[in-house]
Amino acid sequence: MPYTDQPTPELVDSWSAADGAARASSTFTEVFGERPDGVWFAPGRVNLIGEHTDYNGGLALPIALPHRTFAAFRRRDDDVVRLVSGRESTPWEGRLADVAPGAVEGWAAYVVGVAWALQQAGQPVTGFDAAVESCVPYGAGLSSSAALEGSIAVPLAEHPDWVGSGVDTDEARALLVEACIRAENEIAGANTGGMDQSASLRCREGHALLLDCRNGSVEHLPFDLPAAGLELLVIDTRAPHAHADGQYAQRRATCEAAAASLGVETLREIDLADLDVTLPRLEDDVARARVRHVVTEIDRVRGFVALLSAGKVREVGPLMDASHTSLRDDYEVSCAELDLAVEAARAAGALGARMTGGGFGGSAIALIEAGQGHAVSTAVVQAFHDAGHAEPAFLIATPGGPAGRAG
Ligand code: GLA
Repeated sequence: MPYTDQPTPELVDSWSAADGAARASSTFTEVFGERPDGVWFAPGRVNLIGEHTDYNGGLALPIALPHRTFAAFRRRDDDVVRLVSGRESTPWEGRLADVAPGAVEGWAAYVVGVAWALQQAGQPVTGFDAAVESCVPYGAGLSSSAALEGSIAVPLAEHPDWVGSGVDTDEARALLVEACIRAENEIAGANTGGMDQSASLRCREGHALLLDCRNGSVEHLPFDLPAAGLELLVIDTRAPHAHADGQYAQRRATCEAAAASLGVETLREIDLADLDVTLPRLEDDVARARVRHVVTEIDRVRGFVALLSAGKVREVGPLMDASHTSLRDDYEVSCAELDLAVEAARAAGALGARMTGGGFGGSAIALIEAGQGHAVSTAVVQAFHDAGHAEPAFLIATPGGPAGRAG
């Protein structure tokens, strides 16, 4: 049934560094009764293209969002960690010595997991108090967990006895990425691939990050949509991530098994040109479809990058559409809400649209003409309403900078 009044799409604003710092700082002072050493932040991300390629040694192309997580942080002399978050009703308190795989539950695992991984890497880590506030939509597939990890990794790395080159070289950032990945894989128990942490810690403002997951190398590509008269609209479907963890782990396991049976280290080693002879070597249809997605998706990243480099960003839409189709049909990680979001956005004039992130709910992105955000999001809200889905939320993605210090 159509709305009787025009729906008003909900736009999720980002906080300025000063605002985020003030919020985290005031929570800290309220709870712990003293001032933090400072406030640090790390952004969420959207991936432009290159989905489910990171754990296959492939290519991905994320941008950091202006939406960030802020952590007011104070180092302690002992090994106690005390955590509060504006988003979580339960504070956490424990000792670093007790952090181990399987020992910490819930959101705290992402925080103390980073400290644990840095300790394992031989860095000087002590206990700390932290208060976290965030405007990264939660559970929206926009990497709120990597933002949380990054916002703690950077202040931990500002320890006076830190081994290595501080926190501002890309080499140092790559080490922090490794620690955040270990935190997520080993302490939080989510076997994700590393794109999110790389985006949050290594992106550059105004640029997309071309991440080569074969060796962790990065390239920063100027990504100036306004110059092309365009905008990137993010549609948070608010669909529940049903079975997301189990399904993600299953996709990863299928890819690893396929690579092993094809005798390659990762699916990255398979050339698109050889796909026709490679796929029949796999026994089941499902594995064939998964491999086809990964190999064609890596090629779509190359195509996207070539267009960007040639100043033809207006022409990337069909690659985004093809990516979505492949994720929906071959990789089977989309859902009704994501499919509807991309269809409704395209019908309302988007040049291209696709799900972004792990899938099974979460967010889609749509490349739209500048100034069309309201019209496209209104059309998406209407389509969700007609289909009986919960109301989605929206944000405009501009390429933000990496994790750093806010105050
Ligand atoms: C999630 C994971 C990433 C990546 C994407 C899919 O966001 O955290 O490592 O695998 O899914 O591209």
